[in-house]
Amino acid sequence: MRLSVVGCGYLGAVHAAAMASIGHEVIGIDVDERKIEQLSSGVAPFFEPDLQELLADGLAAGRLTFSTDIADAAAATVHFIGVGTPQQKGGYAADLTYVDAAVDSLRTILKPGDLIAGKSTVPVGTAARLATRIEGSGATLVWNPEFLREGWAVKDTIEPDRLVVGVPVSDGIDGTATGEATAGGQRAADILREVYAPAVATGTPFIVTDYATAELVKVAANAFLATKISFINAMAEISEAVGADVTQLADAIGHDVRIGRRFLGAGIGFGGGCLPKDIRAFSARAEELGKGDAVGFLREVDAINLRRRERAVELAVEASGGNAFGKKIAVLGAAFKPHSDDIRDSPALDVAVRLHGLGAQVVVTDPAAIDNARRAHPQLAYTDDLDDALRAADAVIVVTEWDEYRRVLTPQHAGSLVGAKAVVDGRNCLDAAAWRAEGWRYFGMGRP
Ligand code: UGA
Repeated sequence: MRLSVVGCGYLGAVHAAAMASIGHEVIGIDVDERKIEQLSSGVAPFFEPDLQELLADGLAAGRLTFSTDIADAAAATVHFIGVGTPQQKGGYAADLTYVDAAVDSLRTILKPGDLIAGKSTVPVGTAARLATRIEGSGATLVWNPEFLREGWAVKDTIEPDRLVVGVPVSDGIDGTATGEATAGGQRAADILREVYAPAVATGTPFIVTDYATAELVKVAANAFLATKISFINAMAEISEAVGADVTQLADAIGHDVRIGRRFLGAGIGFGGGCLPKDIRAFSARAEELGKGDAVGFLREVDAINLRRRERAVELAVEASGGNAFGKKIAVLGAAFKPHSDDIRDSPALDVAVRLHGLGAQVVVTDPAAIDNARRAHPQLAYTDDLDDALRAADAVIVVTEWDEYRRVLTPQHAGSLVGAKAVVDGRNCLDAAAWRAEGWRYFGMGRP
């Protein structure tokens, strides 16, 4: 099939390359000329495992092209929207400028029978509003939220654990929505079944809903994940008050299959370009709907999350002898999570910046995110070399659980470099007993 993908950021670039890899003819469109140049020459503009190979294969096969001109997407029949919906400046709501602009640009090339499939995360109600914007074009709009995780984006796109499509629904005799797809909605769902044929063939659940449900599925999923992380971090706070170990607590409750161990990793909390902004946009939208109380707990989820960063700073100060001023602190990690160079709302960098603010000589290292971190926070010192970061450090803090720190780095080797053997494990990813056995003072998050 001939597809276009409008917006070639994280979501769009991966989607375009993945769709080409399963046999479609895909054109990626973005207003950023530099990004289009990079993608056209097979260079991924960000770090994502397997993306580079997929780009190279798609370009070589002639099935994948990129352009800054929306007119080049005119031959496509399915147009995906993958532009960003960042947090508004000075507010919690989502900024929909880019989504609106994408629809307006598509309007200039739409043909009767075309499909627009929105993938961006949007506040509930957006799809219905955008559908009215393309009225008269003969095209149909659906909402097809994306659930990919950074670091696993290619796999999650090609083998998703579910596909959700919000389609137009018909009105009943009393004029209220029935929840049943219109003929156009059913046809749109069939087209997307064809687009995602390999995943559908392996039995991936394909869930057809109305617009509002599809939009809500996305934010509900992220709100649930954020809540799960903040739940365990709240247990970490209590554990700290009584000398309990939150990692054992998580293991023990996680054996209950109704609870499950995943996303019960206590530490400095969640960040990135999705969970923080999505729970805030959800709260803002719920307020607009007069249902702010229904998701009032998300404010608490956010507050717990931010408190853990403060706690990590407190521990780093304690580890450096009660005052961080003038102390060298090695900060291991800058990305918001491993296997990513993304530093958007990174708790790791936030901790580094706060320690710098307390007068510490912070040296940050990270296997992938240093260039991005340096651009955002030029006031911090950076090194690519882990040994350099550790040399003569008065304290070490692990804030992103890269394998380089949790598996490869040994307490013996680190001990031979530092000035003082004190380590804060901001992700509870180190073997505390092994580090203590080598003479280190070990500070975990919610652990004795
Ligand atoms: C998240 C969701 O997991 C995806 O399903 C969703 O598609 C995506 O947002 C999105 O909306 O685009 P992502 O932001 O890539 O994906 O990252 P996650 O793997 O969810 O991690 C988010 C943050 O939570 C990271 O900072 C991570 O370190 C933290 N985390 C995760 C914890 O603190 N503890 C855990 O147990 C798990």
